[in-house]
This record gives sequence, structure tokens and C-alpha cells, in this order.
Amino acid sequence: MSSVSKIQALAYVVVESSNLQAWRHYAEQVLGMAAIDAPDGSLLLRMDERDFRIAIVPGAQDRYRASGLLAVDQPAFDAAVAELKAAGIAVEAGSIETILARRVKDLANFIDPAGNRHELVWGYTGGSAAFASKLGVTFKTGDYGVGHTVLPAIPFEPELALFKDALGMGLSDVFNFQMAPDAPVIRIYFLHAASGRHHSVALAEMPNPAGCVHMMVEVEKLTDVGRAYERMRAHGVKEMATMGEHENDRMTSFYMMTPGNFAIEYGYGGLIIEPESWQTTHTKQVSIWGHDFSVGFR
Ligand SMILES: [Fe+2]
Repeated sequence: MSSVSKIQALAYVVVESSNLQAWRHYAEQVLGMAAIDAPDGSLLLRMDERDFRIAIVPGAQDRYRASGLLAVDQPAFDAAVAELKAAGIAVEAGSIETILARRVKDLANFIDPAGNRHELVWGYTGGSAAFASKLGVTFKTGDYGVGHTVLPAIPFEPELALFKDALGMGLSDVFNFQMAPDAPVIRIYFLHAASGRHHSVALAEMPNPAGCVHMMVEVEKLTDVGRAYERMRAHGVKEMATMGEHENDRMTSFYMMTPGNFAIEYGYGGLIIEPESWQTTHTKQVSIWGHDFSVGFR
């Protein structure tokens, strides 16, 4: 039985940081975003007309903090809250401060079975100002949201059930990853929301101390991927995977470390699918070409 996604997109992500200056520099000089100081002491990273797509909040740790899951509308938000509660997940109403900070009409906090934090939200209430990257980058966002996130997912089954059944997200692709022929299988499942981005969330059966295996942002031109790759090298940012093209979503991208201790995939040309008719694929390899992840272990 296929359910209808209650989630429109990954609207934003929240990152905890002990060094906002490092994020400001990284966002402006490497990613091509704009970094704005918020009155509450956080740093808001802009990449489109919205007030932010990545919120950097001060804290003791440098890690991924939460995923902002945008509900399709208020009924979908209410239905998702009800389904999460029915599945035994503790859902807490967001504080007024957080609702204002995230520029949303309503917000519910929950922690999934693998320990990942989420902010389920609906309705954008912030500003809409033209965004001009100082580095000339145009990001692909809008209804598609910030991009995608790959979350550590142990235990795997209840984690998958939450996204598929409670939130109604569709399974785009199933990948059973093996480092070597005799190595254990690591499941990586890719889920789409209503926006049609090939995946907004992926679940990877592996631990990650920084709370995120990687997040992805997409640009409108392949040229901007190449230019970002050069900025990574010029600023001495650690490369986590060489340029390559993924088999499942056909994204041409590279991976680099962030000041948050998780990687960011910087890509172009990801598949947009038709959620109603998409049949789950079973890919056999990470990439058609490139994406040498061994560079990240050097
Ligand atoms: Fe990715």
C-alpha cells in the first residue's frame, strides 16, 4: 500500500557550533551562501529568498542538530503528529521562541528511533528577499527545500517505518552497500517527499557521532560544482569524496567536510521524480563514475 507523503521537503537543517566564525567563513567563502547574525545569537545561512536554510546555533559541540521537515500543509502536519504519537514517538510542541526563530506557523519536536532530532513544521512566515551570492552561485531550492540529508539509522527497521509509514515518505531506492565482497551489508534507503526531489532523506545503517552522514545542497549549473571544488582546495577544506555521478539520483557532485564534523555533498542535476508513479529501484553501485570516498580516510 502506498501512502501519501505528509512531508513536502527538507525545509532546513539546524547545526550546533562552538565556532560561528568558522561557519561564517565556510558559508561565504566556500559554499557561496550568505551568513546573517540573528538577534538570538545564531547564524543564519541564506541560499535563496528565505531568511535561512541552515541555522547555526551556538553550543558546546560541533555537530548536526536537527532536520526541519516541512509538512505539506496544516492537515498533513496534524496527521503526522497523530501518526508519530500512535507509533509511540514522544512529540513535543515547539516553544514560541523556536517557532519564531524558524519562521514557521507551527513546530513539533521529536526524536526518531535512531536518536536523530527533527523539527516537523508547516507554513513559512519569514521574509522573501532576493538572494545574490557574492560568489555567483544559484542554489536549487524553492519547493524542493534545502536539499537532502542522510541520517544514521540504527536500529534500521523502526527508523524506516517512521519515515515510510508515519510520515508517508516514498521509497525511491534501496541500496545494500558492501565495502568488500565478504563485508557485512549496510542498508542505505532513499526516501522522497511530495516535492519529487529523488530523495529528501536517506537512512544509512551506520553510526555517526556528528549526527549526519552527509547533507546535500544542489546548484543550478555544473560550473558551480566545479568552482566550489576549486574553492574547497583553495581554502584547505578536507575533501571527503572526489567528483562523481551517483547511479540512483544521477547527481554530479563532490563531498567535503564542514565545520560541523559532517560532510556536505555539493551537486548538480539530481533527478526529480513523479512520486505517484515512481517504482522503487535497487541500485548496485554508489556511482557511475568517480566519487572516490577513500580520500576522506587519508
Ligand atoms: Fe547525497
